[in-house]
Amino acid sequence: MHKILPNSNPTALDAWESLKQHFQNTKHTTLREHFKEEPNRLDYTVLEWEEFYVDFSKNRLDKKGFDLLLKLAKESGLKEAIAAQFSGNKINVTEDRAVLHTALRTLKKDPLLFEGENVLPALAETQQKMYAFCDNVISGAWKGYTGKAITHIVNIGIGGSDLGPAMVVEALEYYKNHLDVRFVSNVEGDHHQEVIKDLNPETTLFVIVSKTFTTQETLSNANSIRAWFLNQAPEQAVAQHFVAVSTNTEKTAAFGISAENTFPMNDWVGGRFSLWSTVGLSICLAVGPKHFTGLLEGAGKMDAHFQETPFDKNIPVVLALISVWYNNFWNAESEAIIPYTQYLRNLPAYLQQGIMESNGKSVGRDGKRVNYQTGTLIWGASGTNAQHAFFQLIHQGTKLIPADFIGFKKALHGNKDHQEKLLANFIAQTEALMNGKTLDQVKVELNASGMSPEEQIKIAPFKVFEGNKPTNTLLIDSLTPNSLGALIALYEHKIFVQGILWNIYSYDQWGVELGKQLANVVLEDIKDNANHPHDKSTQALLKHISD
Ligand code: F6P
Repeated sequence: MHKILPNSNPTALDAWESLKQHFQNTKHTTLREHFKEEPNRLDYTVLEWEEFYVDFSKNRLDKKGFDLLLKLAKESGLKEAIAAQFSGNKINVTEDRAVLHTALRTLKKDPLLFEGENVLPALAETQQKMYAFCDNVISGAWKGYTGKAITHIVNIGIGGSDLGPAMVVEALEYYKNHLDVRFVSNVEGDHHQEVIKDLNPETTLFVIVSKTFTTQETLSNANSIRAWFLNQAPEQAVAQHFVAVSTNTEKTAAFGISAENTFPMNDWVGGRFSLWSTVGLSICLAVGPKHFTGLLEGAGKMDAHFQETPFDKNIPVVLALISVWYNNFWNAESEAIIPYTQYLRNLPAYLQQGIMESNGKSVGRDGKRVNYQTGTLIWGASGTNAQHAFFQLIHQGTKLIPADFIGFKKALHGNKDHQEKLLANFIAQTEALMNGKTLDQVKVELNASGMSPEEQIKIAPFKVFEGNKPTNTLLIDSLTPNSLGALIALYEHKIFVQGILWNIYSYDQWGVELGKQLANVVLEDIKDNANHPHDKSTQALLKHISD
């Protein structure tokens, strides 16, 4: 492998050894004790940037540990790696590709050279084509085959061609126009049937999104939906009702979509980082070009913050380092992401692909199996709903689960009473997770309730909360396209930093490819009785479904 990115086993770095030692020295210090020992703790654990107030003080980490993590970032060559990514080097070595989704939202006007050519003019041209198309559909100027305006949009795609657009359309519901935007992803026929069953083909626009235009799920859904459409509409109507987003314009043409109705994307935009490109067409249709531009601008600002800010004040870098601290020194297996807004209920699912597809790797950039833990398991749900679902385990279970709490100061519809209650829960939970409730506190409470001393002794242990559960608080002024763009970009950069530190390639996904290949083999067995050799369990399953 050539050396486009630094290549060093993190466990061999000086900082790693020091962190191991520091972990041994401080592992019994509680969060409460950290606060006592560091009266000015907030001076280095609160980062304020634009609309963001990020408080990472409630972590099992002191200033010395934080400085060692910063040293680790330095020794890992992070600075050089960031420069390599933004300048269009082919840092996705195993696919021989550059990683330039940041070009789609750059606020910089200087030429951005890829293989000697400035990519920005062509990107601007594609964006203008997308904006003009969206304006036409939204205004009703774009007509369906019977002369009616479009009222419904169906995005057909999967993975990065679905999760990002679906999450953002939902997140920006407040900014949405009249178009009803839906998503079909799963190959399960019932999924697309349920989505299209009440649709009128005369007023529906289908957006087929597939970077490769070879994905089984997307092509099956697109073909079935086109057949459904042609059952009711003439062949020439396809041009008014089907558009495509892809890098593979030969395949989109073969599907019957004209060049005019095809929105190109670049090979150097990875699927899970592609909502900023033409893959975001459904977002742009749902909220219009003005808000879509706001989303890009917010991400562009976060990119500049990430590129230019010293590591100790750099939000994605700091959050990535804290995550590595828990993953590799505390052996935490997972991280929870809890957005305190229903608008972001699918942010955890979206980030699952971003984080787990990127950093779920066990081979280092040196081509050898790693001898340390990489990618974190990501899960979560919106607060306060999550409090009534899985918070019990975070508060009183046996597992260490660092959590990101994401909240917004202002409610979009301005309901003060509800917003105060929401924020009270948002803040109270991180406080409770940190402080817990001691046996003495429990006894005082039980005493006051009038419970008999015998009963108190029996019940008290169950009411104790150990506390000392770590959280990051991300408090943002309000949920706008701009702040959402910045938030998503923050997590994208966190992924990249962790990949660099773990010495893995974050931008390929060979693990998913195997599943795709094997499904095709089994499909031949199911459809054509091909009888490929399989293990006994698989043979029995195949027999069982054919019975
Ligand atoms: O899940 C694997 C994957 O390759 C993702 O990375 C990608 O977002 C998804 O499949 C869909 O791929 P495509 O956009 O090419 O249909």
